Amino acid sequence: MKIAVLPGDGIGTEIVAEAVKVLDALNLPFKMESALVGGAAYDAHGHPLPPATLKLAKDSDAILFGAVGDWKYDKLDRPLRPEQAILGLRKELGLFANFRPAICYEQLVGASSLKPELIAGLDILIIRELTGDIYFGQPRGRRIATDGHFPGAEEAFDTMRYARPEIERIAHVAFQAARKRNKKVTSVDKANVLETFQFWKDVVTEVHTEYPDVELQHMYVDNAAMQLVKAPKAFDVVVTGNMFGDILSDEASMLTGSIGMLPSASLNSKGQGLYEPSHGSAPDIAGKGIANPLATILSAAMMLRFSLNQEASAQRIEAAVQKVLAQGLRTVDIYSEGTTKVSTREMGDAVVAALKA
Ligand code: IPM
Ligand code: MN
Repeated sequence: MKIAVLPGDGIGTEIVAEAVKVLDALNLPFKMESALVGGAAYDAHGHPLPPATLKLAKDSDAILFGAVGDWKYDKLDRPLRPEQAILGLRKELGLFANFRPAICYEQLVGASSLKPELIAGLDILIIRELTGDIYFGQPRGRRIATDGHFPGAEEAFDTMRYARPEIERIAHVAFQAARKRNKKVTSVDKANVLETFQFWKDVVTEVHTEYPDVELQHMYVDNAAMQLVKAPKAFDVVVTGNMFGDILSDEASMLTGSIGMLPSASLNSKGQGLYEPSHGSAPDIAGKGIANPLATILSAAMMLRFSLNQEASAQRIEAAVQKVLAQGLRTVDIYSEGTTKVSTREMGDAVVAALKA
């Protein structure tokens, strides 16, 4: 079994180091191999996803990913920007199913901006389709308009599209995930306006006939954004397209207190997966040693569970994280009075100590 370790940029290197430390402490028979990705790879090799990094990712059973991006790359041509690394990995490996759980840990109820009673016990799972939609749809580009409201003007365009098999496979993933949970799926669309999402809704409804034991609800994305802050616990599994999922998963992450706590998994049909925190590279705090490594450590737990068949070790990591939270250890993003402020490294060390205890 081989794990590709791709720390990336900004806080990526700091948080991935802590997750690797936790994995090392488990003494499992895995090989870990690191490579540059994102802006770091651009600086060294002139490309955010160099062929050697892509090959390592393809040849591995799982990828532990940090984060990519920094403002200093904003002026580069789009294909050379750090974000292209993660988009390229998703596309090249066919990582179409993105799991973004939003779980509110008991100890962090007070860290959310919502009232405690709204989020205590929150456990929802956002399943975002990751290789289709307006993110990858062709054609896209800039041109001089020949029609529309401003013929003759410069314009830009993207294409939103979904093929039936793309919707079917993500719908199956969502219904199967719901079966292991509270058996409720909310499919989020914009069928009242967009053809792509009327089709999405129709196909999800068809697939649902194979899962009569699971409840299916359809919801427009604007309403879903509202319901997520109004009554988040009413959701169980949320399934949606690439762009809506991007937005709603950031929204859901804040329900839990800090985006610094949320892991994610992106899976293909071969069981390979990329595991990364739901947050970005946070260049503003990079190098300060204050980033929260728990999202990455919890992503490593998801990796053990989904791609490496090590459920017991995954649970050990999750229990260790609960334990350090119960001990009152907090990085700045989740710190509050009466708790103990710790650095990135101290948090990683505490998880390792809790694992061994
Ligand atoms: C995410 C990120 C990415 C996305 C960016 C960095 C391309 O926001 O993983 O949610 O939009 O998918
Ligand atoms: Mn995002």
